[in-house]
Amino acid sequence: MKNISVMGCGTMGNGIAQTFAQFDYNVILYDISQDNLEKAKLTIDRNLERMVKKEVISKEKKSDTFNKIITTTDFNLIRNSDLVIEAISENIELKKSIFSKLDLECDSNTILASNTSSISITELADSTNRKDKVIGMHFMNPVPIMKLVEIINSKHTSKSTTEKIVNLSNQLNKIPLTVNDFPGFISNRILMPMINEAIEALNDGVSEVKNIDGIMKLGMGHPMGPLQLADLIGLDVCKSILEVMFKGLNKEKYMPNPLLNDMVKKGSLGVKSGEGFYDYSESKKAEMVSKRFRND
Ligand SMILES: NC(=O)c1ccc[n+]([C@@H]2O[C@H](COP(=O)([O-])OP(=O)(O)OC[C@H]3O[C@@H](n4cnc5c(N)ncnc54)[C@H](O)[C@@H]3O)[C@@H](O)[C@H]2O)c1
Repeated sequence: MKNISVMGCGTMGNGIAQTFAQFDYNVILYDISQDNLEKAKLTIDRNLERMVKKEVISKEKKSDTFNKIITTTDFNLIRNSDLVIEAISENIELKKSIFSKLDLECDSNTILASNTSSISITELADSTNRKDKVIGMHFMNPVPIMKLVEIINSKHTSKSTTEKIVNLSNQLNKIPLTVNDFPGFISNRILMPMINEAIEALNDGVSEVKNIDGIMKLGMGHPMGPLQLADLIGLDVCKSILEVMFKGLNKEKYMPNPLLNDMVKKGSLGVKSGEGFYDYSESKKAEMVSKRFRND
């Protein structure tokens, strides 16, 4: 596999594109929004520049990596990829329609992967005629730094597809761990109830944001508190994941807390909107991101 396409250039898509490019893959980064593509280019440039400053990579490596990524709104460019990784918004109907379009338009050997946090890979595969070549490839945020790739096998994923994706993840210097196809898989089935509970504790007035996060960091050894992590993931994404788990696993504990629903409704989505449980005005955002990178 040499030619990789990434659909969706948001929080995850630009990190996935950067990671593949750093390991010398040719990447097409596709999105319907030209504005978002421009923002993604800036983010990738900033991330690579930070690595140059820390002497992790050379200036030449930065420009080679950057040049490996073609950004586009033209769907035709992704047709001949060896692998397409879908990283668009967490909406099952949207993803199903994209998978059926990819199936119709892409080369018959192209593997179709989804970076979904919770949606059934089997359902996505069922909207194609290449069910054996559909798989979950769930990267963690921030993608260039986090080691894990949660690989999700649908009911139809072939052994050969899984092997190729596991090998590819290893090539990226990541650690792939495979799981079966249940709503939320392992990562979010365990993480999201904790985030939801932290929001409930805040809503009940048990404590304030900084103390809730501080208790989980200092007391439980978490590198980041659950509310700060929710901001980093995106509150809309957290809400969507909880809804998928609530519907799929049919248990009240997965129902998004009303405070989470309210914040999403008023556009407080966390880091990406500039405000969530914390304030991310430009200066604060830079401070937070650089602190996180220093810790890593
Ligand atoms: N945010 C996280 O921490 C995180 C972690 C792991 C997995 N995920 C999953 O990754 C996926 C993407 O999440 P995100 O946080 O990057 O979302 P995001 O909202 O930051 O970005 C989504 C991007 O998809 C684009 N898009 C929407 N519809 C499209 C279409 N039809 N064709 C092409 N592009 C389209 C949007 O323009 C936007 O740029 C979701 O499935 C999410 O559950 C998110």
